[in-house]
Amino acid sequence: MKILSGIQPTGRFHWGNYFGAIRQYISLQGHEQSFYFIADLHALTTVREPDVLRQNVKDAALDLLALGLDPKRATLFRQSDVPETTELTWLLMTITQMHLLEKCHAFKDKKAKGIAADAGLFTYPVLMAADILIYDSTTVPVGADQVQHVEVTRDLAQRFNATYGECLHLPEAYVLDESAKVPGTDGEKMSKSYGNTIPIFETPKKLRKTIMSIKTDSTPMESPKNPEACSVYELYKLFAGPEEQAILAERYRGGGMGYGEAKESLYQAAMSHFGAAFERRTQLESSPDVVEDILREGAHRARAKAREVVERVRSACGLLAKPV
Ligand code: ADP
Ligand code: TRP
Repeated sequence: MKILSGIQPTGRFHWGNYFGAIRQYISLQGHEQSFYFIADLHALTTVREPDVLRQNVKDAALDLLALGLDPKRATLFRQSDVPETTELTWLLMTITQMHLLEKCHAFKDKKAKGIAADAGLFTYPVLMAADILIYDSTTVPVGADQVQHVEVTRDLAQRFNATYGECLHLPEAYVLDESAKVPGTDGEKMSKSYGNTIPIFETPKKLRKTIMSIKTDSTPMESPKNPEACSVYELYKLFAGPEEQAILAERYRGGGMGYGEAKESLYQAAMSHFGAAFERRTQLESSPDVVEDILREGAHRARAKAREVVERVRSACGLLAKPV
């Protein structure tokens, strides 16, 4: 399998990103190709402060490495360090039909809300197609919301091949298990855009405060409670094994336990789950050169493959004097 996925550095990663995506990227590393990149070019469609973008990219790299992405088993790089991708984006754009992009949800949603979209947002799926096709990727782990973009990628590859002859490989989406649909502090799906996130790397004090702010109902302390209807318990299940889950569920049902105690159990479980990653992150933070070297080395490896594919594409569409 030739795996490729990207994640946008648009803010600090949260528990939803971890359980819904990052944890699964990590378990998929070690294949023939395991490429993961920080999608800084995509982030430019929303992050317009250079210092914020730089900091977000640094944080994304630190988070991914601390959480277990291993540069020996996977290649981690910055999207913008592979400029061949933007060249391929143009080449694909010349065969992209407008209607294909008009139905993509990021653009459609904005238009429906009456917000003016720029060409970057409109052509975002073509850049994503180039990201995928430029490494001859076979397998693209993505959340359900990104499957449409992998379909567009397949359409573009097919159209390119029909125009210029077999050249690009058709990838498949590998839909990540989001069944967890991690709830945020207000009980809705956890997302940066809803301001309800629990960041993965937070000082213990802030983490406790955020956990204590999780919305619960007003059942009195002495009364029995339904664990299945409570976000604190839903979050706890992500960290705890079946036995621990059963113990806490029993305490909910038995009454006499306030939500504060359940939140304390959640806090302890999260601290112990991310404890080692916390330490690794602190170590990495004190050696920024190591992180930069990992990203550079990753880009070097990714570029070698990207150059090969771009040459093939240039040749196929007649940009080279002689076909390769
Ligand atoms: P956000 O909604 O915070 O902007 P992104 O859209 O950047 O997050 O998410 C990146 C990936 O993380 C998604 O494709 C999805 O797989 C995963 N993800 C994000 N939030 C959740 C969640 N609440 N539950 C499960 N997975 C999630
Ligand atoms: N658009 C993806 C997201 O918002 C990130 C991304 C960019 C990506 N390029 C990609 C994901 C290529 C998979 C493959 O989540």
